Amino acid sequence: MNILILGSGGREHSLAWAIKQNPKCDRLIVAPGNAGIAAIAECADFDINDGSYVVTFAEENAVDFVVIGPEAPLAAGVADRLRAAGILTFGPSQLAAQLEASKAFTKEICDACAAPTAAYARFVDAGAAKDYIRAQGAPIVIKADGLAAGKGVIVAMTLDEALNGVDEIFGGAFGAAGTEVVIEEFMEGEEASYFILCDGADILPIGTAQDHKRVFDGDLGPNTGGMGAYSPAPVLTDEIAQKALDQIIRPTVAEMARRGMPYQGVLYAGFMIKDGQPRLVEYNARFGDPECQVLMMRLGAQVLDLLLACAEGRLADARVNWADDHALTVVMAAKGYPGPYSKGSVINGLDGLPETSMEIVFHAGTTEAEGKISATGGRVLNVTARGASLAEAQARAYALVDRIDWPDGFCRRDIGWRAL
Ligand code: AMP
Ligand code: GLY
Repeated sequence: MNILILGSGGREHSLAWAIKQNPKCDRLIVAPGNAGIAAIAECADFDINDGSYVVTFAEENAVDFVVIGPEAPLAAGVADRLRAAGILTFGPSQLAAQLEASKAFTKEICDACAAPTAAYARFVDAGAAKDYIRAQGAPIVIKADGLAAGKGVIVAMTLDEALNGVDEIFGGAFGAAGTEVVIEEFMEGEEASYFILCDGADILPIGTAQDHKRVFDGDLGPNTGGMGAYSPAPVLTDEIAQKALDQIIRPTVAEMARRGMPYQGVLYAGFMIKDGQPRLVEYNARFGDPECQVLMMRLGAQVLDLLLACAEGRLADARVNWADDHALTVVMAAKGYPGPYSKGSVINGLDGLPETSMEIVFHAGTTEAEGKISATGGRVLNVTARGASLAEAQARAYALVDRIDWPDGFCRRDIGWRAL
């Protein structure tokens, strides 16, 4: 079959890598892709948020199946346009993607189905928000309602930080995402993510992961999109995972179906875990990046069968074959990230690195010109490895990192520390 993946990051490189290995995949196109993806698939450069163009492109190229990687096309309704045109699609509808696109919506769903999550209040007015914050006290969490590219959440340890956060959001720091704020109780605990395929009615969990959001070793410094990840997440034990499915995920999926907006795609649930109890921090309507990379490493070619079963409503009969192993990915980023960084620096040493089911470098923000690979983004490479233990996966990933010659890049040296 002919398959189109939308996106250009390490997530999409890992999806392409896994899907490509499945014999059902004849032709693989990724839009817009990157230098690493171009080595294994055709790349097509167009606006992936333009639903009518995506449909036209898919029809012209006899695409049988579209996999949507990032949140922006989901929030723009690209999955709806594709389904309306009769094209099999992996990714939730615009209405269902509100689970990521609106924090207030998610809280409302949690209320409706009694899913454990932080207590909260919603405000469209700065004065009322500040009164509430003063009454609650710090620490407290302030969130812009809408999509803010992974920003828009202020975990305020002091009252001043919280009050400034309200001004920042209503002052337009996050654009239209900040016309409403959600103020939440600060939850303590350890965070972990759970990835669950949903076909609107049935669910199939496909793995757990933990990422490292802070830029520096020891989980210090500013927040980023993720500096590394590993799977499985030992903190999400079988027992806690079962609670999460019973108390949070199944009730959410049922509530979405009841509202006439069935959730079809991968539900990426972030939990805060304390005393054996998971509480929902957030939902995303897509795979995590870089969490996807470690999941793809562990799942391999069967991913295509699972995504097809999800899109075709056949999850009730689908099964995951797990290798009892571990995967870990180290993000190499441009110096300066998540602040300002320069683009265009050349990366050497990638030629000749192994590309096997045990170790591979996924590209996140790269381009190729005249045979040279250069950096085009903040997060640039995802150096990924598997092992029988997490320690083995980690050692293998860092051995690969050390073979990459990129003076303008950096990475954390402690990915996985919490679990080791
Ligand atoms: P979100 O975009 O909602 O995932 O928030 C980003 C990060 O902020 C999360 O990964 C948590 O580390 C933190 N966070 C969000 N909400 C809370 C909360 N209610 N209590 C504690 N930390 C939170
Ligand atoms: N790694 C966090 C995310 O994809 O949202």
